[in-house]
Amino acid sequence: MASTHGAHGILVASNRGPITYQTQDDGSLHAKRGGGGLVSGLSAIGPDADALWVCAALGDGDREAVRRGVGEDGVRMLDIDAEVHADAYNGIANSVLWFVHHMLYQTPLEPVFDAEFRRQWDAYRAYNRAFAEALAEEAAEGASVLVQDYHLCLVPGLLRALRPDLRIGHFSHTPWAPVDYFRMLPDDIRAELLDGMLGADRLAFLTWRWATAFLDCAAEIDPERYRVTPASEASRSVEHLDGAAPARTLVGVHGLGADAEFLRARSHEADVEERIVALREEIGEGRRTIVRVDRTELSKNIVRGMLAYRQLLDDHPEWRERVVHVAFAYPSRQDLAIYRDYTAEVQRVADEINSSYGTPGWTPVVLHVKDDFARSLAAYRLADVALVNPIRDGMNLVAKEVPVVSDEGCVLVLSREAGAYEELGEDAVSVNPYDVVGTARALHEALAMQPGERAERTKRLAAAATALPPAQWFLDQLHALEA
Ligand code: F6P
Repeated sequence: MASTHGAHGILVASNRGPITYQTQDDGSLHAKRGGGGLVSGLSAIGPDADALWVCAALGDGDREAVRRGVGEDGVRMLDIDAEVHADAYNGIANSVLWFVHHMLYQTPLEPVFDAEFRRQWDAYRAYNRAFAEALAEEAAEGASVLVQDYHLCLVPGLLRALRPDLRIGHFSHTPWAPVDYFRMLPDDIRAELLDGMLGADRLAFLTWRWATAFLDCAAEIDPERYRVTPASEASRSVEHLDGAAPARTLVGVHGLGADAEFLRARSHEADVEERIVALREEIGEGRRTIVRVDRTELSKNIVRGMLAYRQLLDDHPEWRERVVHVAFAYPSRQDLAIYRDYTAEVQRVADEINSSYGTPGWTPVVLHVKDDFARSLAAYRLADVALVNPIRDGMNLVAKEVPVVSDEGCVLVLSREAGAYEELGEDAVSVNPYDVVGTARALHEALAMQPGERAERTKRLAAAATALPPAQWFLDQLHALEA
């Protein structure tokens, strides 16, 4: 019988792909390419590997591109029904799974797992099934499939049922919830999630903290079916006691690092130099800077960062007029009301600080909300202090990027709840992200640090931050899956 299998030996699956299309006024499609670890990883394996990236069409431009047959070699965009996608992405992935793993619920009133939740869960299932079917169609016999993130937790199990010959890996870019928080999910849903993930041959996380949380969930929630054992020095294993395939799932860690070569080159290009000049003007002569760069994401804790800055101005009035908080809060997930409200709150608190403390020659908070990568790099280069204070974060690459491009050394004020803390904590000034008074104290300590110590720490931070560059991070996962 002729094989109905596809031709690709390596496949990547993620909700957001490497390219996105926008329809122009004249009806033509404009393609915009993204960056990030997966893009570098796939370019590192070269064109001969015949890799395929399966992703979702996200906006009207993407859907139009699929319909017109416009696309890139090596990318397959899935035109999943827009409502199904919205329910899966906004409803389940970003409003439930993201909230569970980042512990974002205000629990007296939420979550409420009602009939509407069940309806959206069906969409999440259908959306995962669409990915599994596309991967099953495209993968060559025995191919390696690297599934990404919380959007696609069910794909490994669904794909294994369709194609038991494949090697299936899943990588979580987020934290994983502690077992008591994960238990909030309805019993059948959390079982479906675990079974979906554990359909993989190998699961990987950004730090051991998140990997261990996952293993705790598997072991404690379903001990009849899953047993956790050490597999090697660098990995653990979940044995499947019910005889279902695979017989075991390996669990490992790959701490994505910053791309030093790219960042150092990119941050000295002309557009970045221009933005440095403009930023210096906004900041004012001779002032220190506390810089933050984030998506306006609930877990990033931008508001408490500003409250800590205000506390600093109260506790240490000697810093007034001598420091500026440069905050870049770029739009994210604006389909969700809670993100729009949060964005408005960031703006409100910044305005409030500026009107209470500002003077004719000094704007205490310089807030920019329009995404501009060159300006972010400019801010990284001139930062005296970088504030990275998330409530909870898978890794946080800003914490890793700033020390790499900093011109004169930068003190990193880092939340102990960021994944990056595992590697950078020793040379950062650490903070409890909820403690605004403590964060103000940390900002003062950071601003007052002597240049020699600051430079030494920055050097060590940059070395730790670049230990696993994106291309190697990707190859390590692939090799571990193929081993
Ligand atoms: O930070 C975790 C993560 O899944 C990243 O991998 C990804 O960049 C982002 O969250 C997803 O964001 P969005 O909803 O904008 O695609």
